[in-house]
Amino acid sequence: MYPDRVVSGMRPTGSMHLGHYHGALKNWIKMQTELPCLFFVADWHALTTHYDDPTIIERSTWEMLVDWLAAGLDPSQSTLFIQSRVPEHAELHLLLSMATPLGWLERVPTYKDQIENLANKDLATYGFLGYPLLQAADVLIYRASQVPVGDDQVPHIEMMREIARRFNHLYGKEKGFEEKAQDAVKKLGSKRAKLYNELRTDYQQHGKDDALEQAKAMLDDAQSLSMIDRERLFGYLEGSRKLILVEPQARLTVASRLPGLDGRKMSKSYGNAIALREDKESVTKKVRTMPTDPARVRRTDPGDPARCPVWQLHEVYSDAATREWVVQGCKSAGIGCIECKQPVIDAIIKEQEPMHERAQQYLDDPSLVRAIVADGNDVARKLALETMRDVREAMGLAYS
Ligand code: TRP
Ligand code: SF4
Repeated sequence: MYPDRVVSGMRPTGSMHLGHYHGALKNWIKMQTELPCLFFVADWHALTTHYDDPTIIERSTWEMLVDWLAAGLDPSQSTLFIQSRVPEHAELHLLLSMATPLGWLERVPTYKDQIENLANKDLATYGFLGYPLLQAADVLIYRASQVPVGDDQVPHIEMMREIARRFNHLYGKEKGFEEKAQDAVKKLGSKRAKLYNELRTDYQQHGKDDALEQAKAMLDDAQSLSMIDRERLFGYLEGSRKLILVEPQARLTVASRLPGLDGRKMSKSYGNAIALREDKESVTKKVRTMPTDPARVRRTDPGDPARCPVWQLHEVYSDAATREWVVQGCKSAGIGCIECKQPVIDAIIKEQEPMHERAQQYLDDPSLVRAIVADGNDVARKLALETMRDVREAMGLAYS
């Protein structure tokens, strides 16, 4: 009943690296050609863990947006915006918090993990506990049907679905409501069922309030009804309730996992990353100095790609023929490591070339990025307000 829509966000962590590109951005860029997409900078989410260092948020936000545009997110195809510029996300977060059991938040796996991993930070905060609920608001406020995320985020999407279901249950109509209501009508017995339907029509089509009252009185008297059927029939009399929030699906990134220069996950904090817009010389130097299979001490020592982080890059960047050349050459000491690394260097530089080109105009004129985001904020805000109108009404806050 609501149109398909894609929503996803990223925390502003400064400039992005190729791990982000292969892990997430590439997927976003593909999706923008398939469905209406909204992508936002999750600046509030960044504050949940960096609340003590707000100076980096703004700079990181703009750097990340330039990277998005450089990578190929196209503002004519997708809506790019900043979370905090659509303050309705916070309003929905607050409203959802009223009926969200604490246990749901405490049992999200990332919660305990992160508290342990970032032990040097005090994350026993209200904001951090609410991280996945804010994320739920980010998505539900656009009635998104799909959320492209990495697999670490799947529990967050699961929780969003529960939040949406609970909201609809509390404030809207359940799925299949119409049929269930009609089944319940039959359970009234034929005489009462006929009367119920007549009164319902009188009320809904002719606005007769006394018909509504009479029907309610009849339901109160109908001993044979279960509680839930009685609820349904009360709701069905008024008849206009609807699904307010949509349960989103996770769209897992099919991405190839791009390892860092040392074979571990690519991450700025490990110092093993290649930036999205790293210059050629630096890419060349970084790959040339990558560690390889320790067995290859001398050029004549054979090696095994399975023990070499360079091989993992070949798996992402090289075609079958090149990979075959690597395996043969490595195991037979037919090629040297510097030689082996060259196709990877070439492939990375080739991948980055259009990114440098696209970035240039935004670096020359940063007001272009500001304008794109201003437009995106407006588009997003309009959509958010549509949902909020229904949410406010459903929660008794319409005051019109
Ligand atoms: N939690 C996500 C991450 O760390 C970022 C995020 C915030 C997000 N809100 C979102 C992702 C909504 C998808 C949808 O990557
Ligand atoms: Fe690694 Fe290639 Fe050297 Fe083998 S030849 S150890 S795969 S860099």
